Amino acid sequence: MSADLTVEELEKSFAPGLRPAVDRVSFHVPAGEIVVLLGPSGCGKTTTLRMVAGLERPTGGVISIGGRVVARAATGQLVPAQHREIGMVFQSYAVWPHMTVQENVAYPLRHRKVSRADIRTKVAQALELVGLEDYAGRSVTALSGGQMQRVALARALVYQPQLLLLDEPLSNLDAKLRLRLRDDLRRIIKETGVTALYVTHDQAEAVVLGDRIGVMRDGHLLQMSDPVTLYNRPADLFVANFTGASNMLEGRVGEGGRSIVLPGGGVLPAEIPAGARTGEAAVVAIRPENLLLSAPGNEGAGLHGTVVAETFHGTQTVYQVEALGVTLEAVEMGTVPRFAPGAAVAIQVPAAACRVFTGRAAERTGIDAEGRGGH
Ligand SMILES: Nc1ncnc2c1ncn2[C@@H]1O[C@H](COP(=O)(O)OP(=O)(O)O)[C@@H](O)[C@H]1O
Ligand SMILES: [Mg+2]
Repeated sequence: MSADLTVEELEKSFAPGLRPAVDRVSFHVPAGEIVVLLGPSGCGKTTTLRMVAGLERPTGGVISIGGRVVARAATGQLVPAQHREIGMVFQSYAVWPHMTVQENVAYPLRHRKVSRADIRTKVAQALELVGLEDYAGRSVTALSGGQMQRVALARALVYQPQLLLLDEPLSNLDAKLRLRLRDDLRRIIKETGVTALYVTHDQAEAVVLGDRIGVMRDGHLLQMSDPVTLYNRPADLFVANFTGASNMLEGRVGEGGRSIVLPGGGVLPAEIPAGARTGEAAVVAIRPENLLLSAPGNEGAGLHGTVVAETFHGTQTVYQVEALGVTLEAVEMGTVPRFAPGAAVAIQVPAAACRVFTGRAAERTGIDAEGRGGH
């Protein structure tokens, strides 16, 4: 029932002369897996999803669902959307306002000439799956945004599609509902076993939902990995920054290839990528939660610095710390800030937490001036 998805060298050019909105993107989603495409607005996520859905014609490449080619640009082969067995959930609440919850969910089945008894059973199952079994007879207009998205999800799943596509389904919800539905979504998708391709600009959403995450920029797929690999071994500076490594220090590869020398002369122990040469320009990306602050005098801490700013977030505190002639951002969990501006601190920087990029991987394209990309 649930099928794998293969996308090979997929391309979409909306107009000649413009750079393609999707540029030779290739990936595979094994049956039953959730893959998230993550990237800033305009990077080509929706266009990719729409080509998989059959709502947009690729200008290059091949799309196969369950081993069957549904689009091949070279031959013009194109299976229409309604013959692809796909369920879709969009950002906007695409529910029919003049129908009840039950009627909305039953709609795709009516279309498919399923018997009345079967419709009743399947709708009840789908509503239970999304936690709306007590709302069957309600008008959808009486529901909250989160409940409307649950209706949309039930409707997308009711005919047991072989592939589920979701385009920023949580973006219009307020923060609390968004978190609740985010956690529920993964459980619901996994319970059905359906293969899913999920598109978002929100890294936290991607990490919770995805078995694997693909990061996109300017139509390119930069890296596709499981979340732990993505957070700890980002392929380039953009991916590192977009997933939250807000400290980006420029320097040069030190003698012996075990450190980075910063412009002020400071030396940061780091794992240097194979092939990097001594003296080569490099950028070190460090996640703020990987910088460990302690009282000065802590032996074993590599660096010493001064807190220049402190922002209390309720459950964590963000510090700006001057060290090595640069300002570093450090985050500490806890409800009590430990250091005030002006405080001297020791900073532990595990070498494994310093991701070093050289050459093309160190390009800043697409990284905004505020540090954290994409939001
Ligand atoms: N129908 C269209 N015609 C022309 N350009 C489009 C069309 N749809 C999307 N684009 C362009 O393609 C690029 C990728 O858009 P999109 O896939 O919607 O990005 P995302 O979903 O990642 O925000 C953007 O530059 C956008 O302006
Ligand atoms: Mg989009």
